[in-house]
Amino acid sequence: MSETRDTKRMTMLDERFLSDTDLQQRQQELENEIKKIDLSTLEITAEDMIDEWCNPDEPRVLRFEEIAAAAYRIKFGVEKTPCTSSHMSKIVGMDLYFKKEFLLPTGSFKERGARNTLMTLPPVEKARGVIAASAGNHALAICYHGRQLGIPVVVVMPRHAPIMKVNNCKSFGAVVIIRGMNLNESKGIALKLSKLYGLRYINGFDHPHILAGQGSLGLEVLDQVPDVDAILVPTGGGGLLAGIAVAVKSLNPRVQIISVESERASGFYASTKAGHPVFTECQSTLADGLAVPLIGANAYATAAPLVDKVVCVSEEYIAIAILRLVEMEKAVVEGAGATGLAAVLQGLLPELKGKKVVIPLCGGNIDTTVLGRVLERGLVADKRLLKVWLTVSDRPGSLAQMCKLFSTAGASVKDIYHERAWLKSDMFSVQIQVVLEVRDSEHAAELTRIISETYEHVQFYNENAQ
Ligand SMILES: Cc1ncc(COP(=O)(O)O)c(C=O)c1O
Repeated sequence: MSETRDTKRMTMLDERFLSDTDLQQRQQELENEIKKIDLSTLEITAEDMIDEWCNPDEPRVLRFEEIAAAAYRIKFGVEKTPCTSSHMSKIVGMDLYFKKEFLLPTGSFKERGARNTLMTLPPVEKARGVIAASAGNHALAICYHGRQLGIPVVVVMPRHAPIMKVNNCKSFGAVVIIRGMNLNESKGIALKLSKLYGLRYINGFDHPHILAGQGSLGLEVLDQVPDVDAILVPTGGGGLLAGIAVAVKSLNPRVQIISVESERASGFYASTKAGHPVFTECQSTLADGLAVPLIGANAYATAAPLVDKVVCVSEEYIAIAILRLVEMEKAVVEGAGATGLAAVLQGLLPELKGKKVVIPLCGGNIDTTVLGRVLERGLVADKRLLKVWLTVSDRPGSLAQMCKLFSTAGASVKDIYHERAWLKSDMFSVQIQVVLEVRDSEHAAELTRIISETYEHVQFYNENAQ
């Protein structure tokens, strides 16, 4: 076995399976084999879609012992993340703690389940390799830990998967296939290939060993904040929720487990109403990691009896939560990871006032361009950006006068646009579109009053009217 940087940190618990050379050779072999087939004409039958580890007719309920074993198994390969008191506690009236999962090497908690599942494979499956379908965090986690443990990995990522995540998976040496208009199509291809090449398919939110690994997060929380009253868990396919719920309720049933989803991807909420997992159409959401149309059968059977409350947050509050985390906690968190805080900011959990609340910030993989847009949205939702169209005289000095008005009122001009040609009113007027930065909603209200009193033709951007 060659001595790489990764192998030096290995312990008897997580010994590498294949050497670097053998791993590379197997990855190459798989890549060549898969290249030989035309994936666009691949026929996928109902039988191909069967995943023996996730059978909706016989769901498996996770046991505490599986989590305890997983936590021990992965402890050298997934470092304990900090869980620290938040600067926002006073503002929200809760004793708030953030569990910083975004600090893990691939940027999310998914490493827990991925490593546990890879480590528990029988040797023959470790040698052949594994396959997964994911647009992001699960793929990254499997690729990264597959390389560390010397296990070959193939991931199928849908066409919309962010380039950054695709490139990172490739950089870990995995075979990366971009196929499928959505995750379900990618999953079909992955399951078919798993059967063609004898690769173990690993469902990222429903494989029992994934659930057990995610549960280790719950154990760490109890270690770090022993008197916690409630944990707010972002929910996509339900794996994280199931793992945390079993870990925490087994040791302290008094702790409330609250599931948080986006309003635009509310599969767990709909399933709890129906009493079983139901297909729920997902709309595009900032919390893209939570956009799973059908909750996992094992995850549902495990989590549903243990969850105290389910809430769904709006896109506006997800954007505000991301903004607050950047400004107040210096934390870059993706939409899915910010939903717990969004639920608090949106006022959906008034019963937790004065309580000790832990929010896992479970992922930080957000594209820089998306982050920029989200922060602007957050500022608008927060009423710290004000957009107004106003008509002013085209005489010299009137623009300067307008700017003086803004600066005296303490607002700064972020954007300004001058419109002459298309204006239908008198020839000596000009329409101006301005975006102003203001301190808060009170300041925005003050600016609104001053501008309305000074100019005759004024129109403010009203988000609700769009
Ligand atoms: C950052 C982040 N948070 C939460 C979740 C939800 O996890 P689960 O699908 O296990 O419910 C995901 C899923 O990908 C995620 O990426």
